[in-house]
Amino acid sequence: MKKTLFTSLILAGGLASSAHVLAQTPPKAGAMPAEMQQMMKAYTPELRQKVMALSPELKATIQQLHAGHPRRAKETNLRQIMHEILSEYQSIASALATDNAEQAADAARRLASHRIPKGGLLAYFPLDKINNADMAVLPAMNTAVEGSALKLADAADAGNMPLAASYMSDIMTGCVACHQKFRGVPGISANLMTPLAK
Ligand code: HEC
Repeated sequence: MKKTLFTSLILAGGLASSAHVLAQTPPKAGAMPAEMQQMMKAYTPELRQKVMALSPELKATIQQLHAGHPRRAKETNLRQIMHEILSEYQSIASALATDNAEQAADAARRLASHRIPKGGLLAYFPLDKINNADMAVLPAMNTAVEGSALKLADAADAGNMPLAASYMSDIMTGCVACHQKFRGVPGISANLMTPLAK
């Protein structure tokens, strides 16, 4: 039963169209998806409280994002997975530059189906961003990054390398948007008097 639900979520959710699917299948009010319940056991009380306070729609969105990525990390954290994603992006660039459609398509599909980090995505977001308004942008970012990666793969499969190349900026626009909202500049020193100009 659980498996059927999981599978149908994957089929229904696809990789990039959570917002669209949400409009068709409103979640039951108050329902907490089973996988999220499981992940939450490892959360600190502070994070758990923030997640519990999310709307049923938002909880369903997170669940669909997780379900759209069937691969689960055992120990890997989000930062490590992000570096994997960057490697895939660089692999696509290398493939485009060498007219290697197969490499481009494979790397783009791996990028789109990255693993979900240990504890799920929410464990790695700043606590003050775990709220309905900030989290509501996630499906759009998913579409920009992974939807564009899948289009790139299809274009490469069709042998249309110029079209494939055009999706690189759409992907990176999604990376940048998410980082501006949820990450900021990595590696800032705590030991500088004036760490940053901005
Ligand atoms: C859903 C939002 C989101 C999207 C989309 C996203 N990232 Fe990230 N990324 C993050 C967050 C949050 C972190 C900080 C993780 C941490 O440090 O725990 C991060 C960190 C990183 C880092 C690590 C920097 C460091 O501190 O070492 C790299 C590299 C990175 N992202 C690359 C990418 C690339 C490339 C893409 C697009 C193909 C992308 N990210 C898309 C949210 C996102």
